[in-house]
Amino acid sequence: MSDNRPIGIFDSGVGGLTVVKEVAAAMPFENIVYFGDTARVPYGSKSKDTVTKFSVQIVKYLLKKNVKAIVVACNTVSANCYEELTKIFTDTPIFEMVSFGVKAGLEATSSQRIGVIGTEATIRSNAYERAFYDAAADITVFSKACPLFVPLAEEGWTENSVAEITSEIYLQELLDKEIDALVLGCTHYPLLLNCIHRAVGSVKVVNPAVRAAAEIKTFLSTANMLAECVQHDRKLSFFVSDFTAKFNRISKVVLGKAHIAEKVDLEV
Ligand code: DGL
Repeated sequence: MSDNRPIGIFDSGVGGLTVVKEVAAAMPFENIVYFGDTARVPYGSKSKDTVTKFSVQIVKYLLKKNVKAIVVACNTVSANCYEELTKIFTDTPIFEMVSFGVKAGLEATSSQRIGVIGTEATIRSNAYERAFYDAAADITVFSKACPLFVPLAEEGWTENSVAEITSEIYLQELLDKEIDALVLGCTHYPLLLNCIHRAVGSVKVVNPAVRAAAEIKTFLSTANMLAECVQHDRKLSFFVSDFTAKFNRISKVVLGKAHIAEKVDLEV
């Protein structure tokens, strides 16, 4: 049995393309519908109530696109709104990022001293810390909000001296805690991967999306919900709440090809 309906993926803006990349690579026959809330980004500095309201609107939109599953690419939404979303939308599998980041982080650490970076709202929620401590009593988690990484990534300043020094300043605090693994708890941060690697040296850097893609594939396979393997012309469709030139540029950087996104109005 197979299911050729698309997988819905959403984020506050363009950052979730880093999740699309991993999902598309792990499941080469899957159709994907992506929604980026470019009119209302950033979510990371907004309240839980506001981000929940926006997320509910987006999930409703994706369901109208007949998606078979929803991936909450945005860590800010994952950390703050996942429970609410699963209470409201009970008929469609919804996946969030925090649990995958935690599993991958636990595998990466040997010293049990782990760092997590994310938006202010993600770090403030303590969702990563709670999930780490629930999973492993002997772990010590050090969290740090790195809000400047998002505008740097959006500006394409991912390799210059500003990105370099910003990474060094943000991450030194975690290095001082002698972490041996660092979870990138924000969809934008993989865009700064090279700078982050240089700043943390031998510390293992974990992108939750890699683990997410592998586990979502296993889930869909077990549920007989993967698309047919013969579907070589799978479709990636992109929707945004406001036009942004950044979308084309960043989709080229992340996905190797500039994609045009269609602007849509969310019903409120
Ligand atoms: N996409 C958000 C996340 O993964 C980061 C950008 C924002 O603040 O909206 O948390």
